Amino acid sequence: MRYSSCLFAASAAVSAVYAAPEPDADGRYTIEAEGIRAQFIPYAATLTNLYVKDKNGVERDIVLGYDNTSFYPVDPGHPVYNAIPGRYANRIGNGTFTIDNTTYHTVKNDGPNTLHSGPNNWSFNFWKVGKVTKKSITFTYHDPANRTVGMPGAIDASVTYSVSKNKWNIEIDAASLDVKTPIQVTQHTYFQLDAFSNPNGNRTIWNHTLHMPYAKRVMVADANALPTGEIAKVPENAIDDFWSKPHQLGFASGNSNFENHCGGGCHGYNGNWAHDDDRPRDAVVATLASAWSGIKADLRTNQDGIVIYTCNWNDGKSEFKDTQGTGKANQTDKFIPRDGCIAIESQDYVDGINHPEWGRLKKQIFGPGDKYHWQSSWTFGTL
Ligand SMILES: *[C@@H]1O[C@H](CO)[C@@H](O)[C@H](O)[C@H]1NC(C)=O
Ligand SMILES: *[C@@H]1O[C@H](CO)[C@@H](O)[C@H](O)[C@H]1NC(C)=O
Ligand SMILES: *[C@@H]1O[C@H](CO)[C@@H](O)[C@H](O)[C@H]1NC(C)=O
Ligand SMILES: *[C@@H]1O[C@H](CO)[C@@H](O)[C@H](O)[C@H]1NC(C)=O
Ligand SMILES: *[C@@H]1O[C@H](CO)[C@@H](O)[C@H](O)[C@H]1NC(C)=O
Ligand SMILES: *[C@@H]1O[C@H](CO)[C@@H](O)[C@H](O)[C@H]1NC(C)=O
Ligand SMILES: *[C@@H]1O[C@H](CO)[C@@H](O)[C@H](O)[C@H]1NC(C)=O
Ligand SMILES: *[C@@H]1O[C@H](CO)[C@@H](O)[C@H](O)[C@H]1NC(C)=O
Repeated sequence: MRYSSCLFAASAAVSAVYAAPEPDADGRYTIEAEGIRAQFIPYAATLTNLYVKDKNGVERDIVLGYDNTSFYPVDPGHPVYNAIPGRYANRIGNGTFTIDNTTYHTVKNDGPNTLHSGPNNWSFNFWKVGKVTKKSITFTYHDPANRTVGMPGAIDASVTYSVSKNKWNIEIDAASLDVKTPIQVTQHTYFQLDAFSNPNGNRTIWNHTLHMPYAKRVMVADANALPTGEIAKVPENAIDDFWSKPHQLGFASGNSNFENHCGGGCHGYNGNWAHDDDRPRDAVVATLASAWSGIKADLRTNQDGIVIYTCNWNDGKSEFKDTQGTGKANQTDKFIPRDGCIAIESQDYVDGINHPEWGRLKKQIFGPGDKYHWQSSWTFGTL
């Protein structure tokens, strides 16, 4: 069994021989390879820092987070910074779903709906540290029945983060141990490819470009960002068009629909696209780039959908890290503005458990013996 105590016994034996890397004084584990260095903490299996080189060879920390690792567990805002929400990421309509004629109710923590599974979701807990090497780290998580209130059955999960030349790979595995239950997770990283260092920029994400060549369909959503069930084709140059060519994220800001595009008071994007089913297996489904740093990031994934959120709800009160910005001594303020980042979340279709007409139930409901496997990789380069 993948998750048995054998795994820990085996990794202990390995570490005795190879001296597995230890965390630093702040609890961060570091893995690295040519062109990339990544740091993680066990709380929510969080990526705290991700360093890649810009077009001038300068190392940039391109993800959001805090300098103080002790702050993540007590942060009242809890933006799910670079963590793993589960067991069912994003929204569950009306906090209700039905499996084999039994109806379950999850906690409504996002208006009339459930977001990221409600209380005691995976991103609010410490994961166990499994095997650690210089290039990879595994975290494991046991989620008992109803710990995530309303969710039936226990789940064992693991995530393995690894790096190779210019590449960050993520593998998430999960198994339902006793009954059928929804499983749908994501890795919820917030990017800012200029690392808030552009001296002439205004720190918003609008000048980053996004290309999603296979994302020609989008879930129509209501005012609470919940899919209505309709999956619409995205016309070329429409507000949701990132398939026809790379578009700056702010390209449609002059469009009258832009202001409330992601629900009341939410401008920009907080939506869910579907990739073409017939895309090549190892296709790059999204490329995020910034002309200033020249950094570009290519996403490959085994997931059929993607959620894009352009940080509308950022309240401007969080600061970026000391590893970011133009240099601490000079920095008059370090605040991340509204629209100051982008979260890119590979996953299956949002609320698919409540839309049998989409045909996603086999990819979102898992019983004993079924294996859930999520994989994504980011490859970094320069323009
Ligand atoms: C880090 O955060 C913790 C939790 O909020 C706090 O107790 C501690 O004082 C902080 N440390 C620093 C250096 O700010
Ligand atoms: C919505 O959820 C409530 C419980 O919170 C339940 O009583 C009601 O039947 C649900 N409505 C629908 C349409 O599923
Ligand atoms: C669900 O209920 C329907 C209608 O009563 C019944 O035909 C079906 O067998 C039930 N399914 C399960 C899995 O219990
Ligand atoms: C996740 O769990 C925590 C702790 O129980 C809870 O405070 C939070 O509201 C939950 N949901 C989300 C979306 O963060
Ligand atoms: C799940 O937990 C909630 C909150 O603790 C409790 O009210 C409910 O009765 C529990 N449900 C089951 C099936 O154990
Ligand atoms: C952002 O992009 C626009 C349009 O391409 C350009 O006019 C502007 O100068 C850019 N701003 C920065 C700070 O790079
Ligand atoms: C920041 O720059 C972007 C891109 O040039 C622009 O669309 C936006 O209006 C600017 N925002 C502010 C507050 O200046
Ligand atoms: C600080 O500001 C001065 C004056 O603008 C500039 O010459 C210097 O390069 C800056 N230092 C850093 C670390 O950004």
